[in-house]
Amino acid sequence: MNDSRKPYIAGNWKMNLDRSRALDLIKTIKGRLGDGSDREVAVFSPAVYLADISAVAQGSPLGVGAQNLWYDKEGAFTGELAAHMLREVGADRVLVGHSERRHVFGEKDDWMARKLRAALESDLLPILCVGETLDERKGNRTERVLKRQLETAFLDIRQDEIRRVTVAYEPVWAIGTGEVASPEQVGEAHRFVRRWIANKLGAEAGSAIRILYGGSVNPGNVKTLMAVEDVDGVLVGGASLKPDTFLPIIEFER
Ligand code: 13P
Repeated sequence: MNDSRKPYIAGNWKMNLDRSRALDLIKTIKGRLGDGSDREVAVFSPAVYLADISAVAQGSPLGVGAQNLWYDKEGAFTGELAAHMLREVGADRVLVGHSERRHVFGEKDDWMARKLRAALESDLLPILCVGETLDERKGNRTERVLKRQLETAFLDIRQDEIRRVTVAYEPVWAIGTGEVASPEQVGEAHRFVRRWIANKLGAEAGSAIRILYGGSVNPGNVKTLMAVEDVDGVLVGGASLKPDTFLPIIEFER
């Protein structure tokens, strides 16, 4: 963690909760948030609940995001949602390239640059997710994979846009498995991402960008993870679904 970058705690609800439980959860989180000056908190909700969730979150520093978008503005893309549609129902941010999108739904590396562009043009703050599979880690290909995912996504991101972009390092093998990456593994991957961005967009961009860790984050490991250099926040799946587990993560002691 670095004092110049505000810690960012994000919950990715994935395809969980129903409308009433989602609303209860957002009300509880909102009630416990401070003024947002020392940490940024956001939830990434199923798109059908965004309008309701964002209405509740209004007037608080709580961010509300979508879990995916398509990059065209309109057209024959059955089942997809455009950035401006998400914006219209109150989302202020969006996940791009989550590993479940890449691995379960076959999203391609070369869509990501266009998705980032579409998000930024509609004033949505994107979190680009990157991370290696277990086979790739075992085969010593982690950095090669991260480089490919960064190169294809950051194709046309400008220096002046970097403060609006966040990267989440989520090793696929640590997602939903209870197996959290070690502080050394997290530190190495985050350092690699930051250096890559500094090389591509300059030292200032490298030190400004926030890099989150995701994969089996829970109340018991958040402090250790946040203490790792180059970790600026966490992207939480399972533990973001209940106040009992999400509030202690949001309120981790710095
Ligand atoms: P878990 O916290 O359930 O491992 O999920 C991580 C994740 O994919 C967040 O986007």
